[in-house]
Amino acid sequence: MQKIEILRNDTFSLSERYTSYGEEFVKNLTASYDCPKNSSVEKFFRDNALNSCIQGITQSHYVVTTIDGESFFTGFFTLANKVVNIKRENVSSTFFRKIKKFGYYETLTDSVTVSVPLIAQLGKNFNKDNDKLISGKELLMIACDKVRKAQDIIGGRTVFLECEDIPKLTAFYIDNGFVSFGRRAPGEGDDGDLIQMIRYQR
Ligand SMILES: CC(C)(COP(=O)(O)OP(=O)(O)OC[C@H]1O[C@@H](n2cnc3c(N)ncnc32)[C@H](O)[C@@H]1OP(=O)(O)O)[C@@H](O)C(=O)NCCC(=O)NCCS
Repeated sequence: MQKIEILRNDTFSLSERYTSYGEEFVKNLTASYDCPKNSSVEKFFRDNALNSCIQGITQSHYVVTTIDGESFFTGFFTLANKVVNIKRENVSSTFFRKIKKFGYYETLTDSVTVSVPLIAQLGKNFNKDNDKLISGKELLMIACDKVRKAQDIIGGRTVFLECEDIPKLTAFYIDNGFVSFGRRAPGEGDDGDLIQMIRYQR
């Protein structure tokens, strides 16, 4: 008889784990994260994620996938609160009409400045093939759901991210409901321009 696999994804925040289990626990976890496809994502989670949580700058959440009673650390995402400026000319008129209600409209630039949660980092854990247990879409939807839960409390309908101008990455986000609204010059640690993308959640 074919075995029925029961799969479940749970998320945990680094700061909650730090408070409950201490620094050693979190450091062992972050050290077990591998991301050969994106060294800056790997470096962030291993070296900076915990400190950034402790300082309250970002909050990182990791995903544990349980399959047939065995648990694996399969990916993580990092959220932060940011302000973005969206020009009408860069998005559809329907989208601009919706987003306008959430921010400050500037007549001079025909743009709206709005506070939007940022998915600052996101990556599957390629350690020991753990990435095979979760798809990028599942991981991204878990991150979007987490934002939605915060927005159920404080309001808001959108989530945004900035990604490298790599066709496979931008296509991944477009396939999952994000639209591009701008381009940003690289900051410290970035390899090139970043494509800014936003998703209307409901
Ligand atoms: C982005 C991600 C979540 C998508 O997961 P997924 O939808 O399950 O897709 P896959 O992991 O199979 O990747 C799809 C393709 O994109 C490629 N890809 C993924 N991340 C890439 C990156 N950072 N740079 C270049 N190519 C990348 C993969 O190599 C794969 O190529 P292939 O089709 O030729 O095999 C996952 O690939 C990942 O964790 N990437 C590393 C971290 C990362 O780059 N995060 C995005 C930061 S903006």
